[in-house]
Amino acid sequence: MEFDKQSLSLGVMEKITSLAKRRGFIFQGSEIYGGYQGFWDYGPLGVELKNNIKKEWWKSMVYEREDVVGMDASIIMNPKVWETSGHLKAFTDPLVECKKCHHRFKVETIEDKCADCGGEFTEPKTFNLMTEVFLGVTEPKEKAYLRGEITQGVFVNFKNVVDSTRVKIPFGIAQIGKAFRNEITPGNLTFRSREFEQMELEYFIKPDEKDSEKTFNDFKKIRMEWYMDMGIKKDKMRFHDHEPEKRAFYARYATDIEYEAPFGWSEFEGIHHRGDFDLKNHGLKYKDEMTNEEYTPWVIETSGGVDRALLFFLIDSYHEDGERVVLKLNPKLAPYKVAVFPLLKNKPELVGKARSVYSLLRTKYSSVWDDRGNIGKRYFAQDEIGTPWCVTVDFQSLDDDTVTVRDRDTVKQERIAIDKLSEYFQNGLI
Ligand code: GAP
Repeated sequence: MEFDKQSLSLGVMEKITSLAKRRGFIFQGSEIYGGYQGFWDYGPLGVELKNNIKKEWWKSMVYEREDVVGMDASIIMNPKVWETSGHLKAFTDPLVECKKCHHRFKVETIEDKCADCGGEFTEPKTFNLMTEVFLGVTEPKEKAYLRGEITQGVFVNFKNVVDSTRVKIPFGIAQIGKAFRNEITPGNLTFRSREFEQMELEYFIKPDEKDSEKTFNDFKKIRMEWYMDMGIKKDKMRFHDHEPEKRAFYARYATDIEYEAPFGWSEFEGIHHRGDFDLKNHGLKYKDEMTNEEYTPWVIETSGGVDRALLFFLIDSYHEDGERVVLKLNPKLAPYKVAVFPLLKNKPELVGKARSVYSLLRTKYSSVWDDRGNIGKRYFAQDEIGTPWCVTVDFQSLDDDTVTVRDRDTVKQERIAIDKLSEYFQNGLI
């Protein structure tokens, strides 16, 4: 039974990988040069999906809250940041090496013997995950680091944000951006990459054990609900509290939001209570202007991976219905909202009318034109990339200015007036 379940699941991963490449979501980085392990490129549909995920996250974490502002810090920072933050010393993974084939593995992923050749393992050794870069033109070049988490850029700007805006504790700073880790075992498509994107909120509060516990629990709920609102099935997600010895070096306590991926329950977001660890290290304090009280705030962090979210949205929305493959993505996330077709491509009057509908919709919704093959094939092609609505201009459209709108999930068709289309799609995007 287990075997059947597993082989079925592995099949899903292969199908997602193939669809992602075939339809332009995810390509292997530097593919024509044999690829480069742990690096991925997003194609025309992938970039739309990724942008939509980031847009929806920003909307819910910044625009819909009064207590959060955003920022965008640089990827390379003064190396002193990483020395002070503890990353140069403590941002490590314990690894073992196979004595026979010399492949390295994370300690928590191994069995007794090497999975690649059956060899014995060495004792675990720690490896730093920070990616080094060298700057300057004269030797010796200056060693710096690509950021291992986007977070430190927020902490080192804490005072700048407080001084330049009207934020008062409690408040948050949100950021989305690239992070880099020298991962020794990248894999499962984009799940563990060397270059990836994070979407994070650092929420600053007055130090208080009880309050911080409440804030931590509130954010656990907020983040879990966001993934559900965006369409991930409830029974495919769970919280996983970290044992003290498994927590990151900066965390007082930590919980992961996990997804039941075909390769097992896997983290896609971490909620961390970072206490005063970071601001204290950087020597930064907050002064309450009302009371003149000065203190080092505590931080509750929500840290999600954009690439992991994208991968799990693809997996979770993947459906097969006979020959039909459907990505049942939330319309807000779908790369294209609308596809527009003329019923026949050799009838200029239909093509002209359909083109005018396409031009109208394109200004408001990410839309795509298709006039290849028959209508059934066009529907299938759009289902496979998650387009929620297909609009067909037919002969009746020429008489009464209506079109058929076909729904991806119900496959039902409705006749809608062209001047009501925008309202129709708007309602579907709420
Ligand atoms: N600032 C806290 C922090 O970086 P983390 O748990 O190490 O915490 C947060 O990372 C999220 O970043 C993870 O939940 C995951 O979604 C994403 N992430 C981490 N390492 C990754 C990798 N190698 N590839 C893709 N995503 C990764």
